[in-house]
Amino acid sequence: MVSSLPSTSKMLFVWATLSILVAVSELSRTKLEREALLQSGWWSNTTTANLTSDHCKWKSIICNKAGSITWITLHNNETKRELHRFNFSCFPNLEHLNVWSDTLSGSIPPTIAALSKLNYLHLSGNNLTGIIPKEIGSLRNLVTLDLSVNNLVGPIPSTIGHLRSLIYLSLEFNNLNGLLPQEIGNLKDLSSLSLRNNKLVGPIPSTLGHLTKLSILFLDSNQLNGSIPPEIGTANTLQFMELSSNKIQGTIPHELTQLTQLFFLNLSSNLLFGQIPTAIGRLYNLDHLELSYNKLSGPIPTGIGNCSNLEKLILSNNSLSGNIPVEIGQLQNLNLLDLRHNFINGTIPSQLGEIPSLTYLDISRNNLSGNIPNFLSGMSWMSFINLSYNHLEGEVERYFINRYSLEAFIGNKGLCCEFCGLPHCTVTTVPATPPPIFNYKKKHRKTHILLVPVLTVPLLFAIIIAILCLFKRMKRDTKFNSTTTTKSGDVFSIWNFDGRIAYEDIIEATEDFDIKYCIGTGGYGSVYKAQLPSGKVVALKKLHRSESEEPTFNRSFQNEICVLSKLRHRNIVKLYGFCIHKKCMFLIYKYMERGSLFCALRNNGETSELNWTNRVNIIKGIAHALSYMHHNCTPSIVHRDISSNNILLNSELEAFVADFGTARLLNDDSSNRTIVAGTYGYIAPELAYTMVVTTKCDVYSFGVVVLEVLMGRHPQELLSSLSSSTDQNIKLIDVLDQRLLLPVDHTVVQDVVLASSIALACLHSEPKARPTMKRVSQVIDARRKIVPTPIHEITVAQLQRQEMFCVDDCDN
Ligand SMILES: *[C@@H]1O[C@H](CO)[C@@H](O)[C@H](O)[C@H]1NC(C)=O
Ligand SMILES: *[C@@H]1O[C@H](CO)[C@@H](O)[C@H](O)[C@H]1NC(C)=O
Ligand SMILES: *[C@@H]1O[C@H](CO)[C@@H](O)[C@H](O)[C@H]1NC(C)=O
Ligand SMILES: *[C@@H]1O[C@H](CO)[C@@H](O)[C@H](O)[C@H]1NC(C)=O
Ligand SMILES: *[C@@H]1O[C@H](CO)[C@@H](O)[C@H](O)[C@H]1NC(C)=O
Ligand SMILES: *[C@@H]1O[C@H](CO)[C@@H](O)[C@H](O)[C@H]1NC(C)=O
Ligand SMILES: *[C@@H]1O[C@H](CO)[C@@H](O)[C@H](O)[C@H]1NC(C)=O
Ligand SMILES: *[C@@H]1O[C@H](CO)[C@@H](O)[C@H](O)[C@H]1NC(C)=O
Ligand SMILES: *[C@@H]1O[C@H](CO)[C@@H](O)[C@H](O)[C@H]1NC(C)=O
Ligand SMILES: *[C@@H]1O[C@H](CO)[C@@H](O)[C@H](O)[C@H]1NC(C)=O
Ligand SMILES: *[C@@H]1O[C@H](CO)[C@@H](O)[C@H](O)[C@H]1NC(C)=O
Ligand SMILES: *[C@@H]1O[C@H](CO)[C@@H](O)[C@H](O)[C@H]1NC(C)=O
Repeated sequence: MVSSLPSTSKMLFVWATLSILVAVSELSRTKLEREALLQSGWWSNTTTANLTSDHCKWKSIICNKAGSITWITLHNNETKRELHRFNFSCFPNLEHLNVWSDTLSGSIPPTIAALSKLNYLHLSGNNLTGIIPKEIGSLRNLVTLDLSVNNLVGPIPSTIGHLRSLIYLSLEFNNLNGLLPQEIGNLKDLSSLSLRNNKLVGPIPSTLGHLTKLSILFLDSNQLNGSIPPEIGTANTLQFMELSSNKIQGTIPHELTQLTQLFFLNLSSNLLFGQIPTAIGRLYNLDHLELSYNKLSGPIPTGIGNCSNLEKLILSNNSLSGNIPVEIGQLQNLNLLDLRHNFINGTIPSQLGEIPSLTYLDISRNNLSGNIPNFLSGMSWMSFINLSYNHLEGEVERYFINRYSLEAFIGNKGLCCEFCGLPHCTVTTVPATPPPIFNYKKKHRKTHILLVPVLTVPLLFAIIIAILCLFKRMKRDTKFNSTTTTKSGDVFSIWNFDGRIAYEDIIEATEDFDIKYCIGTGGYGSVYKAQLPSGKVVALKKLHRSESEEPTFNRSFQNEICVLSKLRHRNIVKLYGFCIHKKCMFLIYKYMERGSLFCALRNNGETSELNWTNRVNIIKGIAHALSYMHHNCTPSIVHRDISSNNILLNSELEAFVADFGTARLLNDDSSNRTIVAGTYGYIAPELAYTMVVTTKCDVYSFGVVVLEVLMGRHPQELLSSLSSSTDQNIKLIDVLDQRLLLPVDHTVVQDVVLASSIALACLHSEPKARPTMKRVSQVIDARRKIVPTPIHEITVAQLQRQEMFCVDDCDN
C-alpha cells in the first residue's frame, strides 16, 4: 500500500497532464473548426447565424460532446456558397454533410478525402461542376452518396468500388460520361443505384448481378449499349428496374424472369429484338411492364396472364405478331393496355371484357380483324379506346363514335356507320352474325332519324342491367339487414336504418339536392344535410352526375360502400344506407354536428371548446378506430387517406373516422401495391417510392393528424425541421397550439406529452420503426407515466428519444 502511493500519484499526474493536453487540443480543435466555418463564407450573420455566438448552437450544426462538429445540414438558399472555400481538413469528426440549397457551386476538391468519418454526403440540386475526384473512394464510411442534379462531368471513378458501406448512390441528372465502372459490383450493400439522365456509354456491367441487396436500379436516359447481362438475374431483390432510353441491343435474357420481386420494369426506347421471354409470367409481382419502342418480335407470351398484379402493359411500337392472348383476360388489375403499332392479328378476344379495371385500350395500327366486340359497349368505365388502322369490319354503334371520337375507328376499311364520318354500311359489309340487339337496324336503315330515340332503348336496357348486376354484386358483398326498394322501377337502394327512408323523402328533404343544404365538398362528392320526416337528421354524400360517370369516382363510391358495410365501431362514421340511381348516387351517414376536425381546429370561435382534454379524446378516438380497422378486421383495412378533413366530430366533440373512398382491404400476400392515394401533407414518405400500402402508412398519417390536433395547424414546418435534424432545441410548448393556455392539471399535461411522443414515434421515417395502432391504443389507454419534468423544459428531441417516460415504475 505504502509503496504504491508514489506510483499512484505519478499516475494521477500523468492522467492530469494528459487530460489537460486533450482538453487543450480539443479547445484548439474547436477553435480551428470555428475559424474554418467563418472562412468558408457559408454562414452569414444576416441569414443563418449570429456569428458571435457559439457555432455549435448555429441552426445548421451539431457538435459532439467535445465540441467538434459532426453534422452540417444547410437548406438555406440565400447565401451563395463555394465548395472549395470549405476547408475539409479541418473537420475530422464530420459524419453528415448535407447542402441542399441550390446555391453551392464549384467543383469537388480532392481534399474531401480528409472527411474520414463521413457517412452521409448529400450535395444534390446545386450547381457543382467539374469531375468527381477519384479521392472520393477514400470515404470508406459513406452510406449515402447523393450528388444528383448538378453539372458534373467526366467518368464515374472506379474508386467508387471502395465505398463498401454504401446503401444509397445517386448521381442522376448530371452530365457524366464514360463507361460504367465494373467496380460498382463491389458495393454489396447497395440498395438503390440511380445514374439516370447522364451520358454514360458502353455496356451495363455484368457485375451488377453481385448486388444482392439492390432494390432500385435506374440507368435510363443514357447511351448505354451492349445487351442486358444475364447475370442481372442474380440481383433478385430488385423491385424497380428502369433501363429505358438507351441503346441497349440484343434479346431480353430469360434470366430476367428470375427477378420475381420486380414490380416495375421499363425497357422502352432501346434496340431490343427477339421474343419476349415466355416465362415472363414468373414476374407475378409486376404492376408496370413497358417494352415499347424496341424491335421485339414474335407473339405476346400467354404466360403474361400469370402477372396477376399487372396494372399497365405497354408493348407499343414493336414488331409483335400473333394474336392477343386470351390470358390477358386474367389480368384483373389491368387498367392500361397499349399494343399500338405492332403486327398483331386475329380478332379482339372477348376476354378483354372480363377485366373490371380496364380504362385505357389502344390497339391501333395492328392487323386485327373481325367485328368490334359487343362487350365493349358494356364497359362503361372505359375512358379511352383506339381501334384505328386495323382490318376490323362491320357496323360501329353511333354511341361509340360519340363517346370515343371518330378518330378511334378510322383506317379500318371494313367499318361503317350511318352519318358519322365512316363509309355508309352496305349489305355486304354487315357482319355475318351481327350482335342480336342491333339486328333490326338492317331493316330500318333508311329511317335513321326516327331510329335515334329508339336506339337509346337498348342502351338504357344495358345500363339498367349493368346497375342490376352491380347491385347484385354489392348485395353479395354486404351483410346488411336490409330492405330493397325498387319504386318506380329505376331506384335501387338498401337501407340499414331503424325505420325506412324512401328515396322520395331524401329528394324532398333536400329539395332535390338544393345547394342550400350543401354543407361541404369532399374528395369524391358533395355532402348535404337532410332532415327526414321523422325528424332525424342525416348527412348525404352525393356524387355529381358528371362525376358518377367517371370510372374512378364510381369505383371509389363502390369501395366506400363495401368497406363501410364491414365496419362497426363507435369511432367510425355510421353508414345508414346508400342509393344507386341512374341519375345520382349517394351514401347516407349519421350526421356529425361539428363537421370536420380540419375546420374545427381552424375556426377560432371553436378553439376554446376544443380544450386539451377534448383534443386528447379526439386523438384517442381516432387511435381506437384505426386499431380496430387494422387489427380486428380480417383482412385488415387500411384507410389510406387519414387527414383532419376526414375526421368528423359530433356534438360532444367525439371523433369519427370517415371517407373510405380510397380504403383498401389488405390481403396477406404482397400485392398491396398501388398508385399513391391520400392527401398531400399526410402521406407516408415511403409510399412515394415503394408504392406498397401497409397499415404503417395510416400510422404515419395518424402521426400528422395528432400533431395537427396539438398544434392547431398542419405541422409541415415542424416535420421539415425534424427530418433535417438541425434543430435539437425546439421546445414542446413552442409547438403546442398558442391559442390555448398551457395545460396545468398534471394528468392533462401527461396526456398531452404522451400524445406528442406517440405522434413523433408514428412519424418515424422507417415504417417498421413506427408503432402499430394497437400499440398506440394500448399506450394511450394505459396513460404511460412521464418523469415529472416541468412542461416548458421538454424538448421535441427528448420526446423523440422517449426520454420523458418512466421505464418501468415511477411513483409520480
Ligand atoms: C454582420 O457582420 C458584419 C461584418 O462581419 C457586421 O458589419 C454586421 O454588423 C453584422 N451584423 C449583425 C446583425 O450582426
Ligand atoms: C449574438 O450572440 C451574442 C452572444 O450570444 C449576443 O450577445 C448578441 O446579442 C447576439 N447578436 C444578435 C444580433 O443576435
Ligand atoms: C430560395 O428558395 C425559395 C423557395 O424554394 C425561392 O422562392 C427563392 O427564390 C430561393 N432563393 C434564392 C436566392 O434562390
Ligand atoms: C485548411 O486548414 C489547414 C489547417 O488549419 C491549413 O493548414 C490549410 O492551409 C487550410 N487550407 C486552406 C485552403 O485554407
Ligand atoms: C451555375 O453556374 C454557372 C456557371 O458557373 C452560372 O452561369 C449559373 O448562373 C449558376 N447557376 C446558379 C443557379 O447559381
Ligand atoms: C458501345 O458504345 C461504345 C462507346 O460509344 C463503342 O465504342 C462500342 O463499340 C459500342 N458497342 C456496341 C456493341 O455497339
Ligand atoms: C418508360 O420509359 C419511357 C422512355 O424513357 C418513358 O417515356 C416512360 O415515361 C417510362 N415509363 C414510366 C412509367 O416511367
Ligand atoms: C402460370 O401459372 C400456372 C399456375 O400457377 C403454371 O402452371 C404455369 O406454368 C405458369 N405459366 C408460366 C408461363 O409461368
Ligand atoms: C413507331 O413505329 C412506326 C413503325 O414501326 C414508326 O414509323 C414510328 O416512327 C415509330 N414511332 C416512334 C416515335 O418511334
Ligand atoms: C396471323 O399471322 C400469322 C403469321 O404472322 C398467320 O400464320 C396467321 O394465319 C394469321 N392469323 C390470322 C387470323 O390472320
Ligand atoms: C398485315 O396486314 C396486311 C394487309 O392485310 C398484310 O399485307 C400484312 O402481310 C399483314 N402483316 C402480318 C405480319 O400479318
Ligand atoms: C388513334 O391511333 C392512331 C394511330 O395510332 C392515331 O393517329 C390517332 O391519333 C389515335 N386517336 C386518338 C383519338 O387518340
